[in-house]
Amino acid sequence: MQYNFDEVIDRSNTGSIKWHYADDTIPLWVADMDFKAAQPILDSLQRVVDHGILGYTKQSDDLYQAIIDWHSSRYGLQLEADQILFSPGVVPSISLMLNLFTEVGDAVLINDPIYTPFVTKTKLNGCKVVSSALVEKQGRYEFDLADMEAKIKKNRVKVFLLCNPHNPGGRVWTADELQAVLELCKKYQVAVVSDEIHQDLTLSGHTFTPFLSLAKGYEHMVVSLTSMTKTFNVAGIKGSMIFVKDKALATQIKQQQQLNDEYELNLFAYTVMQSAYEQGAEWLEQALVYIEKNIDFTLQYLATHLPDIKVMRPEASYLIWLDCSAYAEEDKALYDALRDAKVELNSGIQYGKEGHLKLRINVACPQSILAEGLNRVKQALA
Ligand SMILES: Cc1ncc(COP(=O)(O)O)c(C=O)c1O
Repeated sequence: MQYNFDEVIDRSNTGSIKWHYADDTIPLWVADMDFKAAQPILDSLQRVVDHGILGYTKQSDDLYQAIIDWHSSRYGLQLEADQILFSPGVVPSISLMLNLFTEVGDAVLINDPIYTPFVTKTKLNGCKVVSSALVEKQGRYEFDLADMEAKIKKNRVKVFLLCNPHNPGGRVWTADELQAVLELCKKYQVAVVSDEIHQDLTLSGHTFTPFLSLAKGYEHMVVSLTSMTKTFNVAGIKGSMIFVKDKALATQIKQQQQLNDEYELNLFAYTVMQSAYEQGAEWLEQALVYIEKNIDFTLQYLATHLPDIKVMRPEASYLIWLDCSAYAEEDKALYDALRDAKVELNSGIQYGKEGHLKLRINVACPQSILAEGLNRVKQALA
């Protein structure tokens, strides 16, 4: 079927975190799309509601098969059912892995900029954040491997939290880049927790590599975290997966999950996960085409009206990283100017020092909303 991503759906008074305003502010911030979910997902939920009994539910063999088929056909990642664990979210899984791989006071390596919970969860787990800035080369971020190695050595880093693809920079790390990271982590026996939640939002011309697919021989030190929630815009449903290839590590994770009783999802999450992976591909394909059009539209608009913004074109996701240093001197003033113009973007500084005078814009909305939001950005900055 043909989906209509131009449809404007009123999300006010729905409890939406994104649309939290009392006025007509346009939200171009949190990673949540203003698109209706795929019809097969809505139908699967409807079937559950029509059945009317919402009792305790376990995951089915068909669900495991749907996950296995999706990852094998798209990314060549071969999984078996006992290598797939369920978790209420990728962020809770990050905390769980920090618990497992570290003691209080241990050092955890992250990149800067980075998705904020990488830092906050590390601190809440009593660990030390060791940050390695990504380096911008020809308009895209790269790892600074020498800096990462020096910091791993100096701080005796125990875990590297990898964001693959990267949020907020939108990089889809190449197999060669990931291989180099793997070699480094192997050399110093650093565990790798790879957050791959943006995997399915990889844009044309780029190839996503699951970190686990490279990790043969080091699988006892690697986990991948992913979910259907970003891909299919069902974040309110909650639910994610942990992929772990090493049997002993899987047992340890399961024990840790038993502690918090966090190893199972709810009926709606299992339902959505299965219908999404079995029947959601058509929606995703169309959504990505629409998102790429919105990315082009945004780049064109900014080049015309705010030409001194340096734009990092994303290789995955609908989030674009904007360097606004030509238009602002202070982070809070930059964010506030936008709010005064009734448009909200994420302030770059929340992703680390490298986010100074940067903004992250979410373009996954009907183009009419995006166009008005961009007009307000222009009004605020020009
Ligand atoms: C890199 C990354 N990891 C995790 C999440 C959130 O995961 P969850 O809602 O499953 O905790 C997001 C949401 O934007 C994200 O960008």
